[in-house]
Amino acid sequence: MLLQAVLLLFVVRRSAAQFPRQCTTAQSLLQKVTINPTYCILVTPPGPNGSLPVFANASYYDVFVWMHYFASQRKDDSTGPDYAHEGAGFLPWHRLFLLAWERTLQRVSGDLTLSLPYWDWRDAENCQVCTDDLFGAYQLSELGPVSSGSIFAAWQITCTRDAEYASQGMFCAGKGEGPLERRPGTHDRFHSPQLPSSEDVNYCLNMSEYDVFPFDRHANGSFRNLLEGFADPQNGHTSNFSTMHNAVHIFMNGSMSSVGSSANDPIFIVHHTFTDSIFEEWIFLHNANEMDLPSQGATVGHNREDFMVPFFPLVRQAEGMLPANTFGYSYDIGDNQLFWDIFFPSLLSSAQQAWPWIICSFIIGAAISLAVCGIVKRVFHKNGAKNNTPDELQPLLPKKEQSYQ
Ligand SMILES: *[C@@H]1O[C@H](CO)[C@@H](O)[C@H](O)[C@H]1NC(C)=O
Ligand SMILES: *[C@@H]1O[C@H](CO)[C@@H](O)[C@H](O)[C@H]1NC(C)=O
Ligand SMILES: *[C@@H]1O[C@H](CO)[C@@H](O)[C@H](O)[C@H]1NC(C)=O
Ligand SMILES: *[C@@H]1O[C@H](CO)[C@@H](O)[C@H](O)[C@H]1NC(C)=O
Ligand SMILES: *[C@@H]1O[C@H](CO)[C@@H](O)[C@H](O)[C@H]1NC(C)=O
Ligand SMILES: *[C@@H]1O[C@H](CO)[C@@H](O)[C@H](O)[C@H]1NC(C)=O
Repeated sequence: MLLQAVLLLFVVRRSAAQFPRQCTTAQSLLQKVTINPTYCILVTPPGPNGSLPVFANASYYDVFVWMHYFASQRKDDSTGPDYAHEGAGFLPWHRLFLLAWERTLQRVSGDLTLSLPYWDWRDAENCQVCTDDLFGAYQLSELGPVSSGSIFAAWQITCTRDAEYASQGMFCAGKGEGPLERRPGTHDRFHSPQLPSSEDVNYCLNMSEYDVFPFDRHANGSFRNLLEGFADPQNGHTSNFSTMHNAVHIFMNGSMSSVGSSANDPIFIVHHTFTDSIFEEWIFLHNANEMDLPSQGATVGHNREDFMVPFFPLVRQAEGMLPANTFGYSYDIGDNQLFWDIFFPSLLSSAQQAWPWIICSFIIGAAISLAVCGIVKRVFHKNGAKNNTPDELQPLLPKKEQSYQ
């Protein structure tokens, strides 16, 4: 499995400060303007009288904003479920969300080695990634919330008016709703006194239970609830303060601070990759697996066998509990990086010695694949199958059910 990961595609997520260009090059920005040809967003659900659903096109980036908004929008103003937050599935959901985003970025930019960077916010006193080289400086004197020297000053946010769409019986339609808002450090310090410290992170990592009843924001002694930020990193008990992951959102005092709109700010990505790296470290330290997720009793969408909303193709929460290297990525921080530091170079050197064999087996493998392809094609032609759509574009629902009638 190790060799497979290496030979296919393996990326290492590194600090944003180390790789500023990775975050802000024209390649990455392409995703904000290029319409996603595979997915569109749902604007109006199918009506009870049989009216058809209405969809809209959106950019690659805005499809992710919409997904995050859709998972967290609460029907009737904060009474409905949140499929991605305040529950056991918070970490696996965001793990696969980032993975989908990383792969999309690789595809849009045509650079398969591209990895999502992270912002290590431990012990930070300010927003270190808020510079014009990275995600945009903030100047009190300027009206624009992100400094005009930043390429992100031109970005339009979307899906920020949850209550307004809900009152019209609609979902976010992906329309521009103004510039990115961010005023790091000007938040209400009473509710969130500081950014998380190294001690806070260590306290989380030492927690042995992934999650405990009631598997939501009221769980005491739960690693997930602590890292999500509803508990006190001094004692693990639920807290009225925003801590850990939540504290970083609140600190930004802008688009990042409300759940539905937070993915509009590219800092969302580097914040969540770092949160995911802590999750990864915890999986490694506690030998975690899908059995750490509750099989039942959590909010709908957060149980082990529940499908993650609104992922398509379908994926279960359990799958998001797998270690990062299963998905072909790792972090250059944490104890488990030792694994890669030790194994990867030795693997590379043995691969170098073995290159004639690798090339040889590649050629033989290709020949076998071609032969198998030929056979499969013939069989399919015999059966009269004419569908040439790539797997990725295949609808999971039969055609008849697609209009929800
Ligand atoms: C069906 O319901 C939708 C709202 O759900 C409404 O906008 C539309 O006018 C209705 N159509 C008919 C034919 O009644
Ligand atoms: C989305 O864009 C495609 C290609 O430009 C177009 O065919 C389609 O009608 C658009 N869909 C909507 C809902 O605007
Ligand atoms: C920004 O912080 C102020 C308090 O300092 C608060 O009143 C306001 O709601 C915050 N804005 C956002 C978008 O979080
Ligand atoms: C880690 O947790 C154990 C109990 O599970 C406790 O005895 C120990 O003091 C903790 N260590 C730290 C550094 O918090
Ligand atoms: C969590 O602990 C607090 C005390 O810090 C207690 O009031 C609360 O009932 C506990 N919650 C649960 C779900 O046990
Ligand atoms: C949290 O806030 C609630 C309601 O304001 C209050 O009843 C409770 O005592 C507070 N808990 C703590 C630990 O401060």
